[in-house]
Amino acid sequence: MNNKIDIDYKLADELIEKIKNNPMGDWFTLPENFSAHEFRRIKEVAARVRDNSDYLVCIGIGGSYLGARAVYEALGLDDTTKCKLLFAGNSLSSRELKRILKELEGHDFSINVISKSGTTLEPAVAFRILKQALIEKYGEAEAMKRIIATTDPESGALHDEAKRNGYETFDVPSGIGGRYSVLTAVGLFPLAVAGCHIGGLIEGARHCKESQLTNLQESMLITYAFTRFYLYDQCDCDVEVLASFEPCLLYFNEWWKQLFGESEGKNKQGIFPASVIYSTDLHSLGQYMQDGRRNIFETFLKFSHEKAPLTVPAIQDALDGLGYLEGRPMTEISDKALTATIRAHDSGGISTLTIEVLDPESEQGISELSLGFLIFFFETACAISAMLHGVDPFNQPGVENYKKEMFSLLGKE
Ligand code: PA5
Repeated sequence: MNNKIDIDYKLADELIEKIKNNPMGDWFTLPENFSAHEFRRIKEVAARVRDNSDYLVCIGIGGSYLGARAVYEALGLDDTTKCKLLFAGNSLSSRELKRILKELEGHDFSINVISKSGTTLEPAVAFRILKQALIEKYGEAEAMKRIIATTDPESGALHDEAKRNGYETFDVPSGIGGRYSVLTAVGLFPLAVAGCHIGGLIEGARHCKESQLTNLQESMLITYAFTRFYLYDQCDCDVEVLASFEPCLLYFNEWWKQLFGESEGKNKQGIFPASVIYSTDLHSLGQYMQDGRRNIFETFLKFSHEKAPLTVPAIQDALDGLGYLEGRPMTEISDKALTATIRAHDSGGISTLTIEVLDPESEQGISELSLGFLIFFFETACAISAMLHGVDPFNQPGVENYKKEMFSLLGKE
């Protein structure tokens, strides 16, 4: 964005105080208060699972899985881990569950069932089916040792079942809602199993908090939260498109959409969170972005470059007209495409914001540090932004409606 908006820093300060004092605001102190004991236990249990399993099936929906999946895919852990993660219980698709069961055939596996309430239908159905497969493979006693439940520490159906069957458990702290829970055992345990440096995620979050919330006048986080509200309130932009040039960020986008959508979309207002992966989507949504309805603003995400990118090879007598690109790294080409896209969309009347998260030490550019930073950045910006809209960032009364209708159709008593 070229224009500077006036930010009410006193209000920003008050909203941060409100987060701190909110009974559902415990995620805000995780970066500095993460329990060393919990951290050790996560790593110990993760090492055990890694030793005896080729797969960990993470069963959960919404905030109970999107954070872990976002980081898993962004870091490309699937390519390096000894124990792969599979994500189940995030739909009601029998096809998808069959696919997962097929993939597990002939492999050792464990289950991490994640549900704060312990009563959500999608994960509960998937858990029944996968638990049955686990018992068939290992017998009752060994199967119970291969189930890790992440749930409410005090009550709920999953809590009670875990207690009765002696599952290993981790807590979803009562003061943290699903979509703010990625930096608890909800996200950290499966990620630790997959070989993620989970300390780096927390360190990144800590760095974000220190750098962004010490001097609010210098804070990109505050600028982002207030600018998006300004664009909504003053410029009739009710759609925000999160844009990046890395396909591995697809699930980061999904996590971000859930965070903002469930936090802000209330009382018939809020910014609709959408996302694109360029340059793929320049060939599908590019036309709309350039020239469609102007109720959109666009937020670009940029990370450090990977250290050893592919380069365009030199080929004699090639007919593809790419001589001018020979020897140049793909990162340079992608960078230029990003700058060009911002320029084009600016000139098409779209307000664009860019968030750059750099970790120059990282080989891959996208690292635990940069993702931890960004997770805390968006969580805090989202809570502030929702409060600017005058809604509670931490509840989700609207998602109950479809459940009521569905349970009545299914004959639940
Ligand atoms: O952010 C949220 O609170 C929701 O997305 C929940 O995480 C999701 O509905 C799953 O709920 P539960 O963990 O109780 O199964």
